[in-house]
Amino acid sequence: MISSKDYISLENKYGAHNYHPLPVVLERGEGVFVWDVEGRKYFDFLSAYSAVNQGHCHPKIINSLNIQARKLTLTSRAFYNNVLGEYEKYISNYFGYDRVLPMNTGVEGGETANKLARKWGYLKKNIKKNEARIIFAKGNFWGRTLAAISSSDDPLSYEGFGPYMPGYDLVPYNDLNALENELKDPNVCAFMVEPIQGEAGVVVPDHGYLKGVREICDKYNVLFIADEVQTGIGRTGKLLACDHENVKPDILILGKALSGGVFPVSAVLANDDVMLCIKPGEHGSTFGGNPLACKVAIAALEVIKEENLSDNAERLGNIFRKELKNINSEMITIVRGKGLLNAVVIKAKDGKNAWDVCLSLRDNGLLAKPTHGDIIRFAPPLTINEDQLMESIKIIRKTILSF
Ligand SMILES: Cc1ncc(COP(=O)(O)O)c(C=O)c1O
Repeated sequence: MISSKDYISLENKYGAHNYHPLPVVLERGEGVFVWDVEGRKYFDFLSAYSAVNQGHCHPKIINSLNIQARKLTLTSRAFYNNVLGEYEKYISNYFGYDRVLPMNTGVEGGETANKLARKWGYLKKNIKKNEARIIFAKGNFWGRTLAAISSSDDPLSYEGFGPYMPGYDLVPYNDLNALENELKDPNVCAFMVEPIQGEAGVVVPDHGYLKGVREICDKYNVLFIADEVQTGIGRTGKLLACDHENVKPDILILGKALSGGVFPVSAVLANDDVMLCIKPGEHGSTFGGNPLACKVAIAALEVIKEENLSDNAERLGNIFRKELKNINSEMITIVRGKGLLNAVVIKAKDGKNAWDVCLSLRDNGLLAKPTHGDIIRFAPPLTINEDQLMESIKIIRKTILSF
């Protein structure tokens, strides 16, 4: 029998070394659980970076996938298909926008939003050719393309990959004064921001920040682009993290859980004034809006509503943070998050750090991954129930106290 070790060696030998995974080799998933090749069962507390909000292999989503896969998977956008329009109507109504532009990965959603904003800047804000600027928040993460790393202030992301995209600038996150200073420049077409910074370590801004962003963008006629690729679709206890402050971005980017983790499906939503700035031939993707993705995404979004997953995330998230704050260990210095997007900041003890804690969590049956060396994100599928959550907390408590 091939063991975990063999699979890891195989990846090491033939794969690019662009990741540093926790040593566990998974072969099956169902709901909140995954199993490794030796048959050991784990709580999944990463959910593929919040792509598996609906739980692994959700039967309704997989059923939709199966039915459509036997009929038609891809037409490209050279022709119409009988599913895309149904999906476009469904998702536009679901999130309250006029239109959607379908893509695949999250980073393509970000690229699309940037292109839309620039085009809008030239057509509607009369910015001079090639002078449009987009402002981002420090600590942002929206993927690995050259545009995405050009807006990053993390050297691990950008170092060695220059030259970088012009027209991008950064302001501190959660700082409305700094933002207002930048947006006064009439060449700024957009501010792109995560309502909670996921990859930065679940950094939650002050309540009122998003409302302030909306107001400043309105004041200076700048588009507010919300990157809800990680925070959206129920994760933070509301359908969108922006809903916590009742603000509506001009451009909304979704990905990850839009397919329930089945395969890459992303979307950019906007109203006519913005979306119709892009004309035929100016943007697209071979796979974007394929009928398989459309059916999968409809099912994935239906599951969120049918199973009240936003409410579940809100309720269980409150319990989770309260219980974690009650763990009496000097290793836990901060517990933060919203809904079921949470993180703890770990202070090393006796030479043991967040990575060691994650290894030990794995040995005790729970999978999580450190980020930035000292932060552990806890983001289980939103289908987790209270008993399962309490069992998970028991594992986390026992693990932390064992150090
Ligand atoms: C907020 C945010 N935006 C965009 C992305 C990029 O998504 P993808 O990896 O699907 O390109 C991520 C991925 O982690 C993300 O967290």
